[in-house]
Amino acid sequence: MRSTAPLSALIVLALTHSNSPAAARQEQFHTRIPTLLDADAVNFTKLFSSELVFRETWSKESWNGLTTFARSTPLRCFGSDADVPYDVAVLGAPFDTATSYRPGARFGPNGIRQGARRLGVDRINVHMKTRVSEFLNVVDCGDVPMVYTDNKVALRQLELANKALLAKTHAKVAEGTSLAKDEKFHPRVLTLGGDHTITLPLLRGVVDVYGPVSVIHFDSHLDTWKPRAWISSACHLIQHRSQEIPVTHGSYFWYAHNEGLLAPNNSNIHVGIRGAINSWDDYDNDYEVGFVISHADELEEVGWKGVVKRIRETVGDNPVYITLDIDVIDPGMAPAPEIGGITTREIKKIMQGLSGLKIVGADIVEVAPGYDTQDEITQIAAANIGWDILALMAKTPLVA
Ligand SMILES: *[C@@H]1O[C@H](CO)[C@@H](O)[C@H](O)[C@H]1NC(C)=O
Ligand SMILES: *[C@@H]1O[C@H](CO)[C@@H](O)[C@H](O)[C@H]1NC(C)=O
Repeated sequence: MRSTAPLSALIVLALTHSNSPAAARQEQFHTRIPTLLDADAVNFTKLFSSELVFRETWSKESWNGLTTFARSTPLRCFGSDADVPYDVAVLGAPFDTATSYRPGARFGPNGIRQGARRLGVDRINVHMKTRVSEFLNVVDCGDVPMVYTDNKVALRQLELANKALLAKTHAKVAEGTSLAKDEKFHPRVLTLGGDHTITLPLLRGVVDVYGPVSVIHFDSHLDTWKPRAWISSACHLIQHRSQEIPVTHGSYFWYAHNEGLLAPNNSNIHVGIRGAINSWDDYDNDYEVGFVISHADELEEVGWKGVVKRIRETVGDNPVYITLDIDVIDPGMAPAPEIGGITTREIKKIMQGLSGLKIVGADIVEVAPGYDTQDEITQIAAANIGWDILALMAKTPLVA
C-alpha cells in the first residue's frame, strides 16, 4: 500500500542518523517553523506549495488522514498488503454479542482509535522513556469481520485472523534466541475489543506460538466462572453443561484453563477485582482455574509498588499476555458499573512497573463508546493504556 515512507518515519530516520542526541532534539524542536520564515518576508509561494500543504499537515495532526491507532501505519493485512512485514499489528475485534449487561463494545475498536488521536507511535512516551517507532514497526490492520448472528462463527473469525498475523515473520529481528517454540521472531498483536470473550481465541493464537502464558488480567470481575454456574443463574432453561453452552465474557478463562492455555502453578493474576460474587466458592473455582487475586482496595494498602511486586512474583519469567477490561479503571475516569477502581495515574505506574516482562500479546476490551461521555474519557483512557503496552513491547524483545 505504501511505496514511500510516511513523513513521521523520515523525521525519525533523520533524528536517529544525527550525530548527537542533543543536536537531534534541537532539530526536532527548532527546525520546522524557522525554515518557513528564514527570509525577511514570508515566501507565500513556498508556504502554500503543494509539498508543504500536504506533507506538513497530512499525517501529523490529530484530526487529519485515516484514524489509525496512535497514527500507526494503516495496512490491509489480510488483503493486498499481506506480504508487508511488521512487528506489531493493532487489530480491532468488533464483537459484543456475548455480553451480559451492557453491550456496545463492537464499536470499541474505533472508539479507542478515536481516543488515540493525540498519541503517536513516533512520539516519546516520557514515563516509559521510549519512542515505540524506534524499536517496532506498528501497523493498524483495521477490524476483523465478526458476524453478529453466531458467536461461535464470530470468535472463529477472530481466531483465524489473529493466527494469520502471528504466523508472519517479525520485521525487525532482535539479537538472541526467540522465545517462540519454532525459534523464529513473530509479530505481536494488540487487540482492541470487543467484549472480553475475545480473549479466548486470542490466547489460543499466542499459545500456539509460545506455549502456555501467564495472564495479567486487569478487571473488576474474575471472569473464571464455570459455564453452568454463569448461564443457569441467568437462564434456568439450560440445565446441563455441554458443548452447546456458549462461552461468554464471564467464563472465557474457565475454557482457557480447560484448554491448557494458562501457565501452571497459579502464575496468573487478576488485578483490580471488586465485583460482587454469588458464593465464596467462586474464589475456590478461580484458584483452580489458575489465578491469584490482587483486589482493587489492596492498592490503598500496598500502593502501586506493592501491586507490581505481587504481579512480578506471580508471573516470574514466563511469557506474559496482558488483558485489560476498561472497567478496572474507576467509573469517574471510565464510566462503567463498578465503583472503587484504579485511577489512570495508578494504572500508568503499574504499567511502568511491568517493564522488562516479555509481553507476547495484549488486548483492551469492553470499551463501549455508547456509554462514554461526550469528552470520550473512556476511549482516551483505553488508548493511553494501549500506548503504554506498546511501549512495554518496544522495551523488551521476545528473546529467551
Ligand atoms: C519562493 O518559493 C518558491 C517555491 O519554493 C521558490 O521557487 C522561489 O524561488 C521562492 N522565492 C524567493 C524570493 O525566495
Ligand atoms: C509447579 O509447582 C510444583 C510444586 O512446587 C513444582 O514441582 C513444579 O515444577 C512447578 N511447575 C512449573 C511448571 O513451574
